Amino acid sequence: MRTSIEREPTVDTAAAATIAAMRSQEFARLDADRHVYVDFTGGGLYAQSQVDRHAELLRTGIFGNPHSLSPASTHASELVERARRRIHDYFRADPDEYVAIFTANASHALKLVGEAYPFTANDRFLLTFDNHNSVNGIREFARTHCAPTTYVPLGPELRIEDEALERELAARPSGSNSLFAYPAQSNFSGVQHPLEFIERSQQAGWDVFLDAAAFAPSNRLDLSRWHPEFVSLSFYKMFGYPTGIGALIAKRTALAKLHRPWFAGGTISVASVQADRFLFAEGAAAFEDGTLDYLGIPAIEFGFDVLERVGIEHVHDHVSVLTERALAGLSALRHANGAPVLRIFGPATTERRGGTIAFNFYRADGSLVDHRQVEANAAAQRISLRTGCFCNPGAGETALRLSRGEIERCFPTDALGGGFEPFRQCIDPTKGTGAVRVSFGLASNTPDVDAVLAFARTMVDR
Ligand SMILES: Cc1ncc(COP(=O)(O)O)c(C=O)c1O
Repeated sequence: MRTSIEREPTVDTAAAATIAAMRSQEFARLDADRHVYVDFTGGGLYAQSQVDRHAELLRTGIFGNPHSLSPASTHASELVERARRRIHDYFRADPDEYVAIFTANASHALKLVGEAYPFTANDRFLLTFDNHNSVNGIREFARTHCAPTTYVPLGPELRIEDEALERELAARPSGSNSLFAYPAQSNFSGVQHPLEFIERSQQAGWDVFLDAAAFAPSNRLDLSRWHPEFVSLSFYKMFGYPTGIGALIAKRTALAKLHRPWFAGGTISVASVQADRFLFAEGAAAFEDGTLDYLGIPAIEFGFDVLERVGIEHVHDHVSVLTERALAGLSALRHANGAPVLRIFGPATTERRGGTIAFNFYRADGSLVDHRQVEANAAAQRISLRTGCFCNPGAGETALRLSRGEIERCFPTDALGGGFEPFRQCIDPTKGTGAVRVSFGLASNTPDVDAVLAFARTMVDR
């Protein structure tokens, strides 16, 4: 499966010991609950120390709404700004070049840019088939401003088709404001799309939105090496807690291009009712509507501390080793008649891919096992995995080989009664409408992988 020139993933011995100790101390609740959690692309797990340290902070501190000189307000403001600096430090984002804006999640970061990007009919929105719906949704803002949207298709292993990308990048209308958005790592297939696309697109005049939501939890994103205009993140994906906080990390020059469609409390330096005018605040504040989650934001530091106790490069290696084991075990499964038990969508090795594996089970006669049945069976064995299309319809449609005609014919309309069920029933049952996904993270271990493999073996000779 692996050629001799490809490096087998390994984990540094000291890091492996740290990770094992963390599993038994920080994530003890997993084994106490006999729980196999393999949905790290859905959400990371928090270490116990994150919750303890946050509880201690809240128990002993007095926090007031920021932006005032009271001691309670100043205390909150200081911790919020400390967390902001920590984001810059962690991602090596030069504060002269980048601004870290607190958002509710990655989707909110994407929306902030989508709604404010200066699209006109002369501009373009370019994105890859492999994208989360929160990126796909930007096309509706482009449409409102009559800017055409183009998708770059996926080729072998669900990787971006290089020639098609090159063609589209070259087709940018001169003098336009055009935006190219892609994920650093697919939340469907785990494919890691080249970060080199950033410079390539910029050289062709595009602004780049790198969606790092699925990449950042177990990979280094170094913004002193890579310089996309915009990056989206959710912190619960990186370290489980807190939920409801993400970031838009944006170049100052790119922010200056955006036209926010409204103003709100916190985003202006001055506004007048009678003069019917307002002035936006400087930097991040102009994009942070209303009161920030000033109690939750300080907790992100405790999450970064957990990642840095191991080192993100070691987290990456740990996840790669587990993924390699899972890929090898899953791909080897055969029914007695020799037919494969499952089909993996995306790369079958850990080359240029992360710890997310999507697949479907097939019976010995080749018929598809409904992913909803798989999810129910897994839940009965206390395995938390995820099924469906993971809010990534483009990767799903490509993986399941659903054609545009087929989808258009079945697409829910009011006439059909609407909703997903009529759509599902209309689609060719040999293809299906979704897949099964397992994904690994810092808290995962070899027994988790083996539990997934044991579960997969229950599908043999069905
Ligand atoms: C690649 C990717 N982008 C964006 C998102 C959206 O993240 P959130 O739901 O936290 O806004 C997700 C969530 O799964 C994702 O995996």
